Amino acid sequence: MSQNQAEQQQTFYDAIGGYETIASIVAAFYEGVADDPVLRPMYPEEDLGPAQERFTDFLVQYWGGPTTYSERRGHPRLRMRHAPFAVTPTAAEHWLRHFRAALDRV
Ligand code: HEM
Repeated sequence: MSQNQAEQQQTFYDAIGGYETIASIVAAFYEGVADDPVLRPMYPEEDLGPAQERFTDFLVQYWGGPTTYSERRGHPRLRMRHAPFAVTPTAAEHWLRHFRAALDRV
C-alpha cells in the first residue's frame, strides 16, 4: 500500500490527534465565548460546561471519531437546535472569530 492510500484510511479525527485535540479546541473556543458580550447572553445555561461537552462530542463525531454525540443527543439537527437563538450575521462573525482563534491557539 502506498503512503497515500494509508493516509486516506486514517480519519481526520486521528490525523489531528483525536479527542484531546478537539477538546482543547473547544475549550479555547468557549474561553472566548465566556467573555463575549454578543454570544455569552445567548447561551441558556449558567454553566458553559455542558454546552462545551455537546460541541466537543459533535466535532469528535463529525470528524470521524466515536459517535458519543448521537448516542447522547440523537441526530444533530443543528438547524432546528439553533432555531431558538438569534444567529445573526454579527453573532456568526463573533462565533467564527472565536473558533478561528481557538484553531490558531491549538
Ligand atoms: C454561527 C454562529 C453560531 C451561534 C451563535 C451558535 C450558538 C449556539 C447556541 C446558543 C447553542 C446552545 C448551547 C447549548 O446549550 O448547547 C448552540 C448549540 C450547538 N451548536 Fe451552535 N452556534 C453557531 C454555530 C455553530 C456551528 C457552525 C456548529 C457546528 C459546526 C454548531 C454546533 C452546535 C452544537 C453541536 C450545539 C449543541 C446541540 C445540542 O443541543 O446537542 N454551532 N449553538
